[in-house]
Amino acid sequence: MQADLLIHNIGQLITVAGGGAGPRRGPEMRQLGSVERAAVAMGDGAILAAGPQAKVADAIDATATIDAGGRCVLPGFVDPHTHLPWAGHRAHEFDLRIGGATYMEIMAAGGGIVRTVADTRAASLAQLTRETAERAARMLAHGTTTAEAKTGYGLNVADELKQLRSIAALQREGPLDLAPTFLGAHAVPAEYRGRTDAYVDLVVEEMLPAAWAEWQVLKADFPPGWPIFCDVFCEDGAFDLAQSERILQAARTLGFRLKLHVDEFAPLGGTPLAVRLGATSVDHIVTTPAEHVTLLAGSDTIGVALPGTPFGLAHRDYTPARSLIDQGGAVALATDLNPGTCWCESMQFMIALACRYMKLVPAEAVTAATINAAHAIGLGDRVGSIERGKQADLIVLDTDDYRKIGRASCR
Ligand code: NIG
Ligand code: FE
Repeated sequence: MQADLLIHNIGQLITVAGGGAGPRRGPEMRQLGSVERAAVAMGDGAILAAGPQAKVADAIDATATIDAGGRCVLPGFVDPHTHLPWAGHRAHEFDLRIGGATYMEIMAAGGGIVRTVADTRAASLAQLTRETAERAARMLAHGTTTAEAKTGYGLNVADELKQLRSIAALQREGPLDLAPTFLGAHAVPAEYRGRTDAYVDLVVEEMLPAAWAEWQVLKADFPPGWPIFCDVFCEDGAFDLAQSERILQAARTLGFRLKLHVDEFAPLGGTPLAVRLGATSVDHIVTTPAEHVTLLAGSDTIGVALPGTPFGLAHRDYTPARSLIDQGGAVALATDLNPGTCWCESMQFMIALACRYMKLVPAEAVTAATINAAHAIGLGDRVGSIERGKQADLIVLDTDDYRKIGRASCR
């Protein structure tokens, strides 16, 4: 067989392959499909063969080869929850938080998300895309090859569309693949302060239809069948349960797939809502009551844990991901990359946090950061594992054993 590229002399090939059509759940999350002394052949951007070196390398005539030198090869990381396109920074808020101010107090006082909204509105599309491209490049340098990217720092029709366009511009540039999410209900903008229902009217009646119409144009920059999501920040001080449901129902009617930020600070009951609406994922799930964790574990909705956020906020409580997996649930990991709670582009660091503070074993954390993360953004059939026919997104780690990812930093 003819191939464009052969990676050989792989000490440990972590395929995460053979899991079937959905995410890995419960004990399946420990199955990495590891092969020692392996090789992977690729052609036309897709994986042609992956497995024992003796089998793959002998059957392949490759134009180019890479000697992995006994290193560990993994699927590229998939980061299924990021707030990637924004302008500016909020470094001064870190000082305030160290001084004792809480994230929600800073937000209520006009800082937080709405501060970044002002900076993002003021930036041109070119400026926004330039600043965002720097972060995308750092994600790639840390091994992320596919990421979700949310809007939510525009909070009006024109600037939410500008964020969507900057996501599409970065998708055109490549090589990172981006799955867009409309998050017009990320916060109530200053001009609607105290009038949340009026802002929800704007989201439902104008922003969502405009975002959907824009997507009909922008999707030409993405592979056929690429998904787009709608998300809501369901939280005290943001959007309550009824407002979240109204927005998600309208989004689903238009054709968006659904996600929901829930239980980051206050448990409002967002998990049952997400499950009832058939959301692809429910994210944060930190203050989630035990019965909602059980409900989630028995559902098709993937729980996305964002351990960089409690770490970034110096909070003690993390997502009960151990319990979710032990009850048969599917867990994915993401950075939540944003300028407020967690400015971190590294999925390797998320794996390290997940092992320490959520008691995932490294195999579960790698599954959560690859195939389950891919399913959490509707791309589980294209990326997240190394198997024939999938997109050729692989990383060669500068280590001989994947378990060292959680122990120390790798490259
Ligand atoms: O997921 N909680 C809402 N959104 C982000 C934070 C965004 C920001 O602070 O700019 C989060 O933590
Ligand atoms: Fe978030």
